[in-house]
Amino acid sequence: MLFALSTGHQIGLATTGAVFIVFSLVSSFVLPARYPNFPGERRNLYLVISVLFFAAMMYAVLVFGLEKKTNESAAGGGESALVGDPAAGKALFASSGCGACHTYKPAASAGKVGPSLDNVTADAAAAHEDLKAFLRESITDPNADVAKGFQPGVMPASTATPQQVADLVAFLSSES
Ligand code: HEC
Repeated sequence: MLFALSTGHQIGLATTGAVFIVFSLVSSFVLPARYPNFPGERRNLYLVISVLFFAAMMYAVLVFGLEKKTNESAAGGGESALVGDPAAGKALFASSGCGACHTYKPAASAGKVGPSLDNVTADAAAAHEDLKAFLRESITDPNADVAKGFQPGVMPASTATPQQVADLVAFLSSES
């Protein structure tokens, strides 16, 4: 979860946490060893400092930790946060040889080994999946949901990066 935070907020949270931990360790081990009477007459002061530290830690978690949610909802979260570029997807479709197996009008391809991608919207609906999720899955894990009338193990599992997959998905789901 910490990974989703921006660096600034991670540092803020980590620093507050580290100071808090150092303070706890020092007052548990170092000070009592040195001053057997610790906290002695300064007990009230020590209590106030402890409470302040606790409040600061809670505040840091709330402020720095909350950022994650705001960011996630803004970006849509997860993989789909990658914005695909249909033009890059078109180039990839050609260079990856997808057209050798797939008919797809926008790519001017006429392959017959796999299903025509001109009908992919209908196939996604038949699989009860969101079109983009269906495309993403079909490309990254072709055997997860084999198209009706076709064999598994024919379409090669893609070695595309997440960004390239997003580009292909953008190209295949564009109306052009
Ligand atoms: C060797 C031939 C071959 C190549 C190359 C190939 N595919 Fe496929 N593809 C298939 C076959 C066969 C199926 C149907 C079986 C299945 O769903 O796994 C399929 C299924 C699909 C589907 C699901 C279609 C549907 O309606 O269910 C998508 C989307 C798809 N391929 C995209 C691509 C993309 C993008 C590339 C290039 C990166 C590509 N394919 C390369 C053979 C191929």
